[in-house]
Amino acid sequence: MQEVLFMIYAWLKAGHIIFVIFWMAGLFMLPRYFVYHQEAAPDSPENAVWTDRERKLLKIILNPSLIVVWVLGLVLAYTTGAFTQGWMHAKFLAVLGLSAYHGYLAGYHKKLARGERSLTGKQLRLFNEVPGIAAALIVVLVVIKPF
Ligand code: HEM
Repeated sequence: MQEVLFMIYAWLKAGHIIFVIFWMAGLFMLPRYFVYHQEAAPDSPENAVWTDRERKLLKIILNPSLIVVWVLGLVLAYTTGAFTQGWMHAKFLAVLGLSAYHGYLAGYHKKLARGERSLTGKQLRLFNEVPGIAAALIVVLVVIKPF
């Protein structure tokens, strides 16, 4: 099994990186949508339009990308035995954090749809920095492998 995975390793890694890009693009877009969504009155037609846009972004881009990134990442780690390496442990923590952020955004989307606005526009803009910082950290960990 591991020999077959080694033969297609470069393809698996290419797929991993492609879906990382899709996932990150979605994670950057969704809080941006929220900023505009919050400005619409809870029972307005505009509220329904933004809810639908967010639902589609989650359903078509974000959720499938999260799954593919995790599956291919775990297969890559299994193939090389990276589970025992320090950088992989740190990457795991960072990626778990990013997945929790994804879950929080999915929850906030439901809150907005119900008419709740618990964060300010400024807080949402600040939130938007999370995926950028996490991605920079993860790429350094995986490319430099500092430990
Ligand atoms: C979801 C869980 C994830 C797991 C289990 C995982 C695991 C892995 C593994 C084992 C490799 C091969 C590293 C090597 O041996 O050189 C890899 C490559 C890579 N990963 Fe992930 N990864 C995950 C998510 C992510 C995320 C979220 C990002 C970016 C934000 C990312 C970016 C990369 C990049 C850029 C590479 C290519 C590194 C290189 O070839 O030099 N990964 N990943």
